[in-house]
Amino acid sequence: MNILGIESSCDETAAAVYTADGLQSNVIASQAVHERYGGVVPELASRAHHKTIQATVQQSLEEAGISLDRIDAVAVTQGPGLMGSLLVGLCFAKGLCLSRDLPLIGVNHMDAHIYANFIDGEPEYPFVSLTVSGGHTQLVHVRGPFDHILLGQTRDDAAGEAFDKIGKILGLPYPAGPEIDKCAKEGNPQFHDFPQAMLDNKFEFSFSGLKTSVKYYLEDREDRASFLTDHLSDICASVSRAITDVLVKKLENAIEHTGVRTVVLAGGVSANSMLRTRAREMAREKDCRLYIPRLAYCTDNAAMIAVTGYMMGQRQMYSDMNLKPYANLTESR
Ligand code: KG4
Ligand code: ZN
Repeated sequence: MNILGIESSCDETAAAVYTADGLQSNVIASQAVHERYGGVVPELASRAHHKTIQATVQQSLEEAGISLDRIDAVAVTQGPGLMGSLLVGLCFAKGLCLSRDLPLIGVNHMDAHIYANFIDGEPEYPFVSLTVSGGHTQLVHVRGPFDHILLGQTRDDAAGEAFDKIGKILGLPYPAGPEIDKCAKEGNPQFHDFPQAMLDNKFEFSFSGLKTSVKYYLEDREDRASFLTDHLSDICASVSRAITDVLVKKLENAIEHTGVRTVVLAGGVSANSMLRTRAREMAREKDCRLYIPRLAYCTDNAAMIAVTGYMMGQRQMYSDMNLKPYANLTESR
């Protein structure tokens, strides 16, 4: 089965081809238009998707060396995401399916982050996924393919959102997660103890207080500018520790609760080097197998949509042409 995957939920227009021989192409057109606004502007995102989607899909087919005639199904992100952006991908996919008489597969973006681990690996079921992105932070018990139980999630900000908002306070460009990661490598994670919220709750997270505490920590200083110049990397390292310690602690709780022997990381924040290191240490201590997608498959991409579409196609999980996008996860099930 040859699957064309299309992703347009936020600010990356992406297309990929996945076949029985694995991933054949993975093309991403990132939207630079948002940089000057310090965040994604939804209307600009949909327009940029509209402009680039055809060329992106074309390129993914060319790089795979597979013509549209040999595609067996089109998988597309149905949600969660920005409504206007999702609509562009969904309408494009439906157009292709209608004109070529192909089946359509609506993919849940958060599921796809999890199944990105199957591009290079073969995690054993059941497993627990720590899915950490810009919009979501979840612990998911994956009992079998597409058989998921949500153990817990964030009550307010997502982990990626915390990185981005704290980065903004520190004067770093958007998205700040990768910038904080880079800076943190030079810093001392023990420089300051930022609060780690909800440690008494097993599976739920809260990150909005951390952002506020960084804000007050800097606001109270008269030497703020020079302090930041001297200690930016220490603050980045301390913030990273506060976030990753909580994430890894709750992943550990999930392992104990479910008794799984396999864990996976998923989503944009799984690109974070401190999280990757700590999760590896924890998995070793717990004698668990850990899977983490390679960096290109952590942040938004279409390879994860194509591989998930492939797995759904194998199980006849097709959608009809009335498939509608959803902005939030709660509307999805
Ligand atoms: O999964 P993703 O690409 O998009 C969503 O589905 O939200 O995740 C994007 C998030 C952003 O908040 C970004 O700052 C964060 O992932 N991120 C990172 C790193 N790379 C991306 N956060 C920390 N460290 C990184 N290396
Ligand atoms: Zn994502």
